[in-house]
Amino acid sequence: MMVPQIEFPKHNFSISRLVYGIWRLHEDPLGATVERIYEKIQTCLNFGIDTFDHADIYGDFENEERFGRVLEKHPSLKSKIKIITKCGIQVPGSKFPTKHYNTSKEHIRYSVERSLHKLKVDVLDVVLIHRPDPLMDPYEMSEVFDAIIKEGKVKHFGVSNFTTTQFQMLQSVYDRPLITNQVEFSLFCTEPLFDGTFDQAIQFGFHPMVWSPTAGGRIFSPKTDTETQTLQKLQVFAKEKGCSADQILYSWFLNHPAGLIPVLGTNDLKRIQSAAECFSYPLTRVEWFTLLEVARGREVA
Ligand SMILES: NC(=O)c1ccc[n+]([C@@H]2O[C@H](COP(=O)([O-])OP(=O)(O)OC[C@H]3O[C@@H](n4cnc5c(N)ncnc54)[C@H](OP(=O)(O)O)[C@@H]3O)[C@@H](O)[C@H]2O)c1
Repeated sequence: MMVPQIEFPKHNFSISRLVYGIWRLHEDPLGATVERIYEKIQTCLNFGIDTFDHADIYGDFENEERFGRVLEKHPSLKSKIKIITKCGIQVPGSKFPTKHYNTSKEHIRYSVERSLHKLKVDVLDVVLIHRPDPLMDPYEMSEVFDAIIKEGKVKHFGVSNFTTTQFQMLQSVYDRPLITNQVEFSLFCTEPLFDGTFDQAIQFGFHPMVWSPTAGGRIFSPKTDTETQTLQKLQVFAKEKGCSADQILYSWFLNHPAGLIPVLGTNDLKRIQSAAECFSYPLTRVEWFTLLEVARGREVA
């Protein structure tokens, strides 16, 4: 079964329901050569994963470039994939002594141009503001988003790690619909279910992207009793359904009506394939709540 596309009706746009994340690309024990990255992109495409989640800062500002070298060598890939990238985090270094955020129009424009150059593409499908900037000016941001879209350099803008009020503030002055809010969410980080983040997605008609879906791998190397019990429950359901624990885990995200889009972080080709097959193992409402209960260590009220 191929990973399906998920539609963003307000944007006349779709991406694969699972997205491949580039944060850990440079940590792959098999390397980050053009050949290895090409193999990973091909594996994703073979299973219907056509969307890749970058950020300017990933891999010490080098992962966009590593990926771009693959697109340069295999330009036919460009029409088969969708590229998401992010901007706004400024890491300390020779230019700045202090880590900070920059959502000024000059910096957003500079970052977009730099990502286009490094990725070797003419247009970015999606650009997200990586973190909410306490100094962000929604009027200035909207103006530059609009200008860049009109120039044909970016198709859609969105945000990441925004609270509901931050999202609403920006959306209230930006004429086009923001495409997503990419947030941390997993069995070990369930706040977006309860703090209004996913309610807002339904209300505004977008699909949230969710990062660290395996809690950075912690689901599979549990440290506490609760974490161990969570993995055991995933394994019990997997045995009952004749699949693997990771497939149950990824299936858990699919029940939510907001249409959550997990961003995969594994560098392992077999684990990419396994995740892609999660659609064959739907969970019942009771199974969904059982996993929530065991992971939170308490039943719902
Ligand atoms: N917007 C943001 O602020 C933000 C922040 C963080 C991440 N992200 C995005 O989200 C993506 C995913 O985040 P993530 O990398 O933290 O995802 P993740 O899946 O939660 O963590 C990946 C880690 O878990 C391990 N892992 C995954 N599946 C496993 C399995 N079945 N068994 C054992 N270990 C497993 C991986 O090791 P192996 O490689 O060995 O499988 C890897 O070390 C990133 O690439 C990035 O695109 C966005």
